[in-house]
Amino acid sequence: MTISPEELNHHSTGPVESKSAERVVAMSFLVSFLATVALGVTFWQGGQPQLEGTFLFVALVGIGVGTVSWGKYLVPQGPFVEEREELVSTEAEKAAFEASLGRGTSELTRRKALTRLLGLSLGALGLIQLFPFVRSLGPLPKNSLTLTNWKTNARLVKPDGTPISVNDLEVGGILTAFPEGFAGNAYDQVVLVRPSQSAIVTKPGRESWAPQGYLAYSKVCTHAGCPVGLYQQLTQQLLCPCHQSLFDVMTGATPVFGPAPRPLPQLPLLIDSNGFLRAQAGFDQPVGPGYWERS
Ligand code: FES
Repeated sequence: MTISPEELNHHSTGPVESKSAERVVAMSFLVSFLATVALGVTFWQGGQPQLEGTFLFVALVGIGVGTVSWGKYLVPQGPFVEEREELVSTEAEKAAFEASLGRGTSELTRRKALTRLLGLSLGALGLIQLFPFVRSLGPLPKNSLTLTNWKTNARLVKPDGTPISVNDLEVGGILTAFPEGFAGNAYDQVVLVRPSQSAIVTKPGRESWAPQGYLAYSKVCTHAGCPVGLYQQLTQQLLCPCHQSLFDVMTGATPVFGPAPRPLPQLPLLIDSNGFLRAQAGFDQPVGPGYWERS
């Protein structure tokens, strides 16, 4: 028995049923793709669990229905047996073969379109998996790692928000201070020390930065970012407890021991007419570990 291409393609379904099946498969993949796009849009706009669940369900069911229908109605169902005693085709058989071959070409094109639709649905579903990862990265830090909230004339306040006056610290004392309005902000915190009662010049060009012996340095260690919270009045050094870096407050918090690679940035201070401490300006360099400086 000779099996024609028509028989191969329509062993279990006729041409009409085959076209209907193709339509069902195409519609399933299309619905799946649209549901996946809707899922992506919903997620990107903030998400809504019930909607997302529905769209994901529709997307998966669409692919499922499409592939099952394809396998059931469009793939020839065996078994096929070909007996080989007769290898010569009659004229009628040749004509039937050519006719079915022509129709087969258009069917092949339709099948190719179905394959592409399936690829589109699966591709969209795969792409959507990346959305949670991409969104979890959050916004780019831009230059937020190099800027603090210290601005010209920002008043120094204690952790509870109380402004710091010139009488708040005895010689040898230490306080943690923040810019007014940002109390508690770890990145802005400075350590305020008073090694003496008279103005201190820590470096050339910083003649007015430490009025009445008040010195303010960033509290974020330049080694790994720990808070530099210990002050030794005897040696006039700040100590970072994490890896024991020591900073000499009288020479611009230059590191004299430990792994800190650079001085703590100094905040230029002034005392206003009411006796409150204020910043002359912000830091002139980034605070914290050195790797934040690299771009
Ligand atoms: S974090 Fe300060 S010494 Fe390491």
